[in-house]
Amino acid sequence: MTGAIFILSGAGLSAESGLRTFRAADGLWEDHRVEDVATPEAFQRDPKLVQRFYNERRRQAAEAQPNAAHKALAKLQKNHNAPVYLVTQNVDDLLERSGAEQVIHMHGAVKDALCAACAHRWTAPREMQVADPCPSCGQPKTRPDIVWFGEIPYHMDVIQDAIEDSDLFVSIGTSGTVYPAAGFGQMARHLGIKTLELNLEASNAPFDVQREGKASDIVPAWVDEILRG
Ligand code: APR
Repeated sequence: MTGAIFILSGAGLSAESGLRTFRAADGLWEDHRVEDVATPEAFQRDPKLVQRFYNERRRQAAEAQPNAAHKALAKLQKNHNAPVYLVTQNVDDLLERSGAEQVIHMHGAVKDALCAACAHRWTAPREMQVADPCPSCGQPKTRPDIVWFGEIPYHMDVIQDAIEDSDLFVSIGTSGTVYPAAGFGQMARHLGIKTLELNLEASNAPFDVQREGKASDIVPAWVDEILRG
């Protein structure tokens, strides 16, 4: 295939790097439902708990290693003769550490920090504390640069343009349960774009083609097919 490829990835892409997925982790973290920790209300209510949750995820993400699927996507982006848009719901940087460029993190990045007062962004320390002053405005309003439930995902305009520019839409390792990401496949179909799902278990969304298997197996195999043309 020759045209641009839009790739949406979810937690299943990083599962074999040891980063738990949301639903398989029965959504619990230290007896808190993830949905109850990853929200602006939770941060207002108990900022220490939320910072602790993300310090733990930041540590795990830093210790994780890219797997063969991350590396295959970076190879595809380097060698394909048209744009490869890497849009991810994941907050780890395993794609970047595999050599991928311009990765679009629509739910933010756990390695980054954000000032809720002045919107300054910087690379977060390994352990963020509630009282950390913002390096720019000095106010103790720092938070992980994560899009929480109920907040607007990042880069939606760029994502829309990328879908419209693509000839193939590929969903990798996502349950397709959280909007707006879950609606991207439908948008692609409405535009007449071919859709492919690569997942451990096929989701019930109407993809043109669905392949089941571990990402570290089926993503490199698919990339090789594409690059062989
Ligand atoms: N290889 C491929 N796919 C896998 C693997 C694997 N080794 N392991 C799990 N999966 C698939 C599962 O089949 C499932 O479809 O990964 C998906 C994980 O789904 P979720 O846990 O719902 O994760 P995700 O789809 O990324 O969640 C989307 O929800 O909780 C919010 O903001 C959070 O970004 C997250 C969003």
